[in-house]
Amino acid sequence: MHEHYPFTVKPLPYDYDALEPYIDEKTMRLHHEGHYRTYVNELNKALKEFPDLHHIPLPDLLENLEILPLSIRNTVRNNGGGVFNHELYFNVMKPIRQNKPTGKIADAIKSHFGSYDNFKSKFKDAALSRFGSGWAWLVNDDNGKLYIISTPNQDTPLHAGINPILPLDVWEHAYYLKYNNRRGEYIDNWFNVIDWNKINQNYQKSLILK
Ligand SMILES: [Fe+2]
Repeated sequence: MHEHYPFTVKPLPYDYDALEPYIDEKTMRLHHEGHYRTYVNELNKALKEFPDLHHIPLPDLLENLEILPLSIRNTVRNNGGGVFNHELYFNVMKPIRQNKPTGKIADAIKSHFGSYDNFKSKFKDAALSRFGSGWAWLVNDDNGKLYIISTPNQDTPLHAGINPILPLDVWEHAYYLKYNNRRGEYIDNWFNVIDWNKINQNYQKSLILK
């Protein structure tokens, strides 16, 4: 069950330095305590004066932006997207040694992309070609078909039955302190900290929910 207003800042499921050397402690701290916390606060501030919206879970708000008053629609789109995307991103990373896909998602990646290496290459292309700030995603549709897409700013893939499985934050704040302008190096290293058990769960859950 997803939470609704007032939204809270969730702790990271690991220490700030847990993803070293791939993602550094300073970046994780600033990302979580600074950027993510601000999205939560701004989302709550926007919804405060609209009690009719307080019972609605975040994914439902983001899937149905057209139900929101125009005065807060963009604020919820940007900050609500920021909350949803970052919680998913923080939760699919983990300090692990085994970093290859596992379970049903491993089979699905093989059948859709030919091999894990080919998947990585296509995912990296999507993340590199997202101009400016945004996200790269592995998503699936209601039929379980996998796609690699990217979205601008804090937009989410939560529309048209598209289910986000694996997000990658390619805003500069996610990598600039360590990698400067070398987004490609950040992406290559990020593949080392993906928690494929979690991705497999995200994939299987979406198949059950459909
Ligand atoms: Fe971010």
